[in-house]
Amino acid sequence: MTTMRVMATDRVGPGAALRPHTLPVRRPADGEVLIKVMAAAVNQADLGMVAGNYRWYDELRLPLVPGYDVAGVVEAGDWEIGAAVIASTGHSRTQVGGYAEYVTLPAGHLAAAPANLDWVEAATLPLAALTAHQALDLLDLDAGQTLVVNGARGAVGRFAAELAVARGISVLTPDRTTTPAPASVDAALDVVGGPRARAAFAAVRDGGRYVTAVPEFWVPGGQFTAERGIEPTIVRAEPDGRRLDEIVRAAEAGQITTTVAKTFALTEAADALELLRAGGVRGKLVLVP
Ligand SMILES: NC(=O)c1ccc[n+]([C@@H]2O[C@H](COP(=O)([O-])OP(=O)(O)OC[C@H]3O[C@@H](n4cnc5c(N)ncnc54)[C@H](OP(=O)(O)O)[C@@H]3O)[C@@H](O)[C@H]2O)c1
Repeated sequence: MTTMRVMATDRVGPGAALRPHTLPVRRPADGEVLIKVMAAAVNQADLGMVAGNYRWYDELRLPLVPGYDVAGVVEAGDWEIGAAVIASTGHSRTQVGGYAEYVTLPAGHLAAAPANLDWVEAATLPLAALTAHQALDLLDLDAGQTLVVNGARGAVGRFAAELAVARGISVLTPDRTTTPAPASVDAALDVVGGPRARAAFAAVRDGGRYVTAVPEFWVPGGQFTAERGIEPTIVRAEPDGRRLDEIVRAAEAGQITTTVAKTFALTEAADALELLRAGGVRGKLVLVP
């Protein structure tokens, strides 16, 4: 194959929309892997990309193919041919999108797919679980310590809560109607922002730890201002095959669980984004090329 179908937009910002495009399949260079995409999860970041609220490390190249998460089969390059893998595309650096029939990625982004999950389930792991895993490492809690996760019904929050429990951490998961008691826990992970971020921050004891995945919605004390000896830290998910291996092992051990709300054909990617934008979705939306 020399070309592939993708869903892409020719511009970003208000009114931008995904349409089918045909693009060249890039042959892998040294250290890269060509993956035939079997499933690609939809993330909040993809919405931000198309809306023009997203920052890439390099100047944006158009057409933009969104998509952070893939599960698929290795077709060529620096990996066992035919292997089932999952990967984060690391879009902010690579500008390689998963809303495609093929992706070419650095081998360091990949992990062997979990044996107990199908393609659609496996595709929901990379970005959300990498973010959760990195956040927990930043929090660096010991077993027996207490952690608030303020959006534990969402993708990142759910994985974070599950991974924390697996580390022996005692996890509180307030929903929209409950507020954790002030200064009652050792740490908090914010995946919501706004007033919920403030409530989660307030729940942390003096000198405790606090990480946010949504810095743009940070509120307490202004831009990342330390208060009461708590230094807010930002988690920024990075592709990391070794970390993804640990996540796969956690999935295979049943320590983290996946929830798929709905699957879409690749050509229905715009519908999937619209459903995510509308809110209220429980579980991941996944595209199947
Ligand atoms: N920094 C990074 O590297 C990184 C990586 C991945 C994601 N993120 C960001 O992290 C956030 C969560 O991502 P996700 O994939 O977990 O999203 P998600 O699956 O859509 O979950 C969002 C969560 O936020 C809650 N929420 C949303 N709006 C709310 C509101 N107005 N009031 C209270 N709760 C609200 C939801 O609560 P309900 O369950 O009650 O609806 C849900 O638990 C997103 O902003 C995403 O962009 C950052």
